[in-house]
Amino acid sequence: MNKGLTAAAVKQYLADRELHVAVRPEVYPVLDSTNTFAKRAGDKGEAEGLLVIAEHQTGGRGRRGRTFHSPDGTGLYMSLLLRPDCAPEAALDITTCAAAATAEAIEALSGQKTGIKWVNDIYMNGRKVCGILTEAALSAEKGRLAYAVLGIGVNIFVPVEDFPEEIRQIAGAVFSEKPDGDIRASLAAEIVSRFLGYYEHLERKDYMQAYRDRMILFGKTVSVHSAVGEVLGEGECLDLDDELRLIVRMTDGEIRALSTGEVSIRGDF
Ligand code: BTN
Repeated sequence: MNKGLTAAAVKQYLADRELHVAVRPEVYPVLDSTNTFAKRAGDKGEAEGLLVIAEHQTGGRGRRGRTFHSPDGTGLYMSLLLRPDCAPEAALDITTCAAAATAEAIEALSGQKTGIKWVNDIYMNGRKVCGILTEAALSAEKGRLAYAVLGIGVNIFVPVEDFPEEIRQIAGAVFSEKPDGDIRASLAAEIVSRFLGYYEHLERKDYMQAYRDRMILFGKTVSVHSAVGEVLGEGECLDLDDELRLIVRMTDGEIRALSTGEVSIRGDF
């Protein structure tokens, strides 16, 4: 069944799912960034469940100020507005939970295996096919999250003009060529419903097993940096703890638990 990428199609795919959040999809031909759009809605008091999707982003944003290449029609670019009652640190759990849910959804629709590169990149066949950017706003008086915007970008197939030179060696797509039919609406629904299933009981961390099973760093060599980017040494990635810290055995034998931002990866996956 090919319904195209419309709000009605996403709603229809979600219709038989039991979700604790009323998901309200909106599809736009072009936006600068679905995250920016959803944040504006969050600032204006929009309720949890707004799902903003764009066919094309002119200013798609990635982590650490990077851009996210978002050409017309070849990817799924979407942002879900959330209002979790949690401390700011829990924003990392939202990202991890979304990585597990998105990896499972991609596998369900493509029949292919995915891997997760800590913290939130999804890989297939050694290439990054999906990035996740969670942005949160704080309620000053409560010291809790006022809202979070979960932004997910999936490359569905490789654009005819290929990826830009600077990401050509890293970026990949779920399908090697344009699939028959448009799977974007069903993928959006699959990701959102799997994500909400985990998010309903975020504190239980039910997604950890799915996340851990797909981790591609175990046994790999990582470079460890300080917060300001100075390289402190290398080590072998051994495990992930429940706080999502990477457990690394440094070359001098010391075991360290590293938080996000402190490692980069050497070599291929
Ligand atoms: C990354 O890989 O660094 C994260 C990329 C996140 C991209 C998605 S696409 C939908 C949403 N809107 C954005 O501007 N960014 C996220």
